[in-house]
Amino acid sequence: MALYFNIFFFLLLLLITPNLDLSLVKSCFLSPTYQVHIINKLPSNIPQLQVHCASKDDEIGNEYLDINEDLRWSFCESFFENTLYFCHFWWGSMNKSIAVFDDPIGCVHHGQYLNYLNYCKWEVRQDGFYLEMYNTTDGNMTYFMDHISDWS
Ligand SMILES: *[C@@H]1O[C@H](CO)[C@@H](O)[C@H](O)[C@H]1NC(C)=O
Ligand SMILES: *[C@@H]1O[C@H](CO)[C@@H](O)[C@H](O)[C@H]1NC(C)=O
Ligand SMILES: *[C@@H]1O[C@H](CO)[C@@H](O)[C@H](O)[C@H]1NC(C)=O
Repeated sequence: MALYFNIFFFLLLLLITPNLDLSLVKSCFLSPTYQVHIINKLPSNIPQLQVHCASKDDEIGNEYLDINEDLRWSFCESFFENTLYFCHFWWGSMNKSIAVFDDPIGCVHHGQYLNYLNYCKWEVRQDGFYLEMYNTTDGNMTYFMDHISDWS
């Protein structure tokens, strides 16, 4: 009897646990899927980079990132295109809070460039925060890492 119960609960868990789908990409109903990547490109792991990202209704968590580690998540852009994700970073005596997504075309509004991608790739470096952007003056669809913000 106990065995049947265990199998029953296991199957029930399979049905009700959305996290069992380990793929990164969410499927969105009538709206595009976006991804954000936060990659640690600091020169040293000492002190360790700490990151906390969130939106109004999504909590990405408080994590320490190793060198080259990629903190990433995906979400469905809302119908009103008003999704805002920000991240707070701590590295030694420094800390900084920046918006990492508030615009479907440029990732962030304040960027001079656009990226037209469905993902936003950020790198955290010693001299600040870089976002992958499309080079509008080069005709070959090349991308570069745009220095968006300093640590201070
Ligand atoms: C973040 O850094 C500012 C200075 O830029 C400092 O005043 C503040 O106390 C720091 N906050 C945290 C939570 O570390
Ligand atoms: C674009 O790519 C082509 C072929 O690779 C090259 O000949 C051309 O010089 C490139 N243009 C620019 C602006 O880099
Ligand atoms: C964009 O591409 C052009 C031509 O390849 C290059 O000269 C320029 O430095 C690039 N701009 C940026 C911001 O990378």
